[in-house]
Amino acid sequence: MVNLNEIVRGSFQSAYLGYYAFEPWAGRGFTRAGLDLVLRRAFRELKLHRVEANIQPDNTRSIALVRGLGFRREGLSPRYLKIGGRWRDHERWALLCEEWRSPRRGPQGVVEWKDAWTE
Ligand SMILES: CC(C)(COP(=O)(O)OP(=O)(O)OC[C@H]1O[C@@H](n2cnc3c(N)ncnc32)[C@H](O)[C@@H]1OP(=O)(O)O)[C@@H](O)C(=O)NCCC(=O)NCCS
Repeated sequence: MVNLNEIVRGSFQSAYLGYYAFEPWAGRGFTRAGLDLVLRRAFRELKLHRVEANIQPDNTRSIALVRGLGFRREGLSPRYLKIGGRWRDHERWALLCEEWRSPRRGPQGVVEWKDAWTE
């Protein structure tokens, strides 16, 4: 599941990214493939300039995922969100359209999703 939330236009052109995998299908590249598609829509169709993801520092899977997509760590937001009754620190990761690379492309410029969807 991938959500693009709170899209702000005007001089900001930014949105927040939310995502999670259903456990039986985790670790198979589906979330990564979904995020690639959503980022493509965010930057190409919605013409956003920036997409942000806020992640708890101990969520290594999620951090590895956004890092692999080219996101940069901008900093730490102390006690950013209340989750499970406690205010939790979050790392702020962001990707600008200038930094974004569209999905892996084959020799003819064809998008290669096959590895994610067939394995
Ligand atoms: C984080 C989460 C969304 C990853 O989903 P997923 O479907 O397992 O991710 P993918 O299979 O698409 O993996 C993409 C990348 O994520 C990272 N990753 C995924 N599983 C990982 C694991 N077990 N250990 C380390 N990195 C991992 C890797 O960088 C991987 O790239 P690679 O295949 O080149 O190694 C999933 O673990 C989840 O739903 N977690 C709970 C909810 C959550 O934390 N949401 C994000 C809140 S900020």
